[in-house]
Amino acid sequence: MALISKYIWFDGKLLTHDKAKVPVTSHAIHYGTSVFEGIRAYWNAGNLFIFRLDEHVKRFRNSGKYYNISLRYSDKKIKKAIIDLCRKNKIKKSCYIRPFYFIGQYGINLHVTKKAPTHVAIFSFPFGDLFDKNGITACISIWRKFSDESTPTQAKMGGNYLNSILATQDAKKQGFDEAILLDKNGFVSEAPGENIFIVKKNTLITPPLSSSALDGITRRSILTFSKDLKMKTKIKNISKKELRSADEIFLSGTAAEITPIIKLEKTKIGTGRIGNVTKVVMKKYSDIVMNESKKYSKWITPVY
Ligand SMILES: Cc1ncc(COP(=O)(O)O)c(C=O)c1O
Repeated sequence: MALISKYIWFDGKLLTHDKAKVPVTSHAIHYGTSVFEGIRAYWNAGNLFIFRLDEHVKRFRNSGKYYNISLRYSDKKIKKAIIDLCRKNKIKKSCYIRPFYFIGQYGINLHVTKKAPTHVAIFSFPFGDLFDKNGITACISIWRKFSDESTPTQAKMGGNYLNSILATQDAKKQGFDEAILLDKNGFVSEAPGENIFIVKKNTLITPPLSSSALDGITRRSILTFSKDLKMKTKIKNISKKELRSADEIFLSGTAAEITPIIKLEKTKIGTGRIGNVTKVVMKKYSDIVMNESKKYSKWITPVY
């Protein structure tokens, strides 16, 4: 793991690591009452470009609402904090930015209400590829993705990610790079930290949110820009059989960006190499995040 940048934004101040601390009695450590986002910023042509900052900040606030956990700063203040953090750390490399807020108050029987005090922190670190962009292997997880009947699937909460951790542990134990989780009805849901797309005859197909998939910002971006590529898109339930017989499969997410899956358990997907449709989607995504696409410069916030 790369080194975390020197300064951390903590409750309105830019502090060095040693000063940004919370007590071990904090509620979030015990019960997972933390809310987080993952954002990327790309260094290109002498500037740092934050991808879809507005969308991330909107989801950041919204995630907490499912649990009555309050974000005590305005969207404007959070966006400024993220930009200030990048500037203070003089970031001149593509990086990952992690904002989070959490209940810091002590109380083993604390009733969580909007009034419960929260801390907000933001840190960043240089970040390249999460996965091998030439393609990865995956398996269908023994763990099912949780559904809205038990925990809100659209909330990016610390506690929710225990399901992802189990699925990842299982996949790695079996020697695969990544897991694919099925929803409660046995349809494809998503990966532990990524949405999934299959390609069938030049159509991009992705599961609906009712399959417990997160409303991913990368997923949404692909569904928008694929129109420019003259690709058809479909949001529909995907069975295991359809997944196995897909022409191509790729994952989408802030950290994973667009990552091809070239082998699913023992089955080669397509030719067993990155498919042509996936290649085109990867190139378009890369152009957009690097701010090399005029049409989508509205998705970019320059830091400098
Ligand atoms: C469970 C899960 N699904 C999908 C995604 C992809 O979402 P995004 O494209 O907004 O990063 C993420 C990452 O945030 C995630 O954690």
